Amino acid sequence: MTTKIVLNGAKGRMGRAICDAASDGDFEFVSLCDIGDELGDAFKLADVIIDFSHHSATLGIVEKAVDHLKPVVIGTTGHDFAEREKIIAHSKSIPLVWSGNYSMGMNLLFYFAQKAAEALPELYEAEIIEAHHRHKKDAPSGTAMDIARRICKGRNWNLEDVIQYGREGITGERPRKQLGVHAIRGGDVVGDHTVQFFGQGERFELRHQATDRKVFAQGALSSASWVVGKAPGFYEMQDVLGLR
Ligand SMILES: NC(=O)c1ccc[n+]([C@@H]2O[C@H](COP(=O)([O-])OP(=O)(O)OC[C@H]3O[C@@H](n4cnc5c(N)ncnc54)[C@H](O)[C@@H]3O)[C@@H](O)[C@H]2O)c1
Repeated sequence: MTTKIVLNGAKGRMGRAICDAASDGDFEFVSLCDIGDELGDAFKLADVIIDFSHHSATLGIVEKAVDHLKPVVIGTTGHDFAEREKIIAHSKSIPLVWSGNYSMGMNLLFYFAQKAAEALPELYEAEIIEAHHRHKKDAPSGTAMDIARRICKGRNWNLEDVIQYGREGITGERPRKQLGVHAIRGGDVVGDHTVQFFGQGERFELRHQATDRKVFAQGALSSASWVVGKAPGFYEMQDVLGLR
């Protein structure tokens, strides 16, 4: 069956990668929209909306999807905690899939990062380092934030209380209950993420490198087919992959 899609952010790097990955006939784009475009009747015709655009656009897209009772797959990142909450609240009315990273390898890393946080005592101090291309507009990456959420879940921590974005100056000793997140930028890096758990006498590391955006595009398209017909609720790529 063909899945009919409205794609928001269609002219961007990810929008173009999704169009390329969808060329096998299982998907049809009823609208390829970008900033300033009128959506018209597109939502009525679609089975699902995919958003890979800008954080300021996501809430409006989700509200419109609620009006038409259509599911949404969100890839966009860069939302602050309050924006994220408002968007997720709409999952009471429609199915929402939202992942900071739609690649299979990274979703395994999410899974193992949570398991490591559960298994290792808190004296194994976790730090996340991410690298992206120079055009990326938000930091830290949505993927780094998703890894951080997983580690906090594993440790029963509240992310907002423990996150430390980079360090400078006379910082004092590292508090044990802290989660460092560091962003570096340059060149054409598609997305590198490393999580390190620093113990006394050993260091445990999980690492993922994306070399082609098609891995995100394929994951977003699989999520789009998967979410059609699902009950309202908040889902992640982990649900699509059955990794819960
Ligand atoms: N979840 C994932 O797997 C994943 C992977 C890569 C990128 N991303 C995220 O996806 C988003 C897009 O990434 P990109 O590399 O394609 O960025 P990009 O800058 O190349 O493209 C963004 C596109 O969105 C458009 N846009 C901006 N504001 C808009 C609005 N209000 N309405 C409609 N369109 C608008 C821009 O014109 C542009 O064409 C970013 O937030 C990025 O971090 C997510």
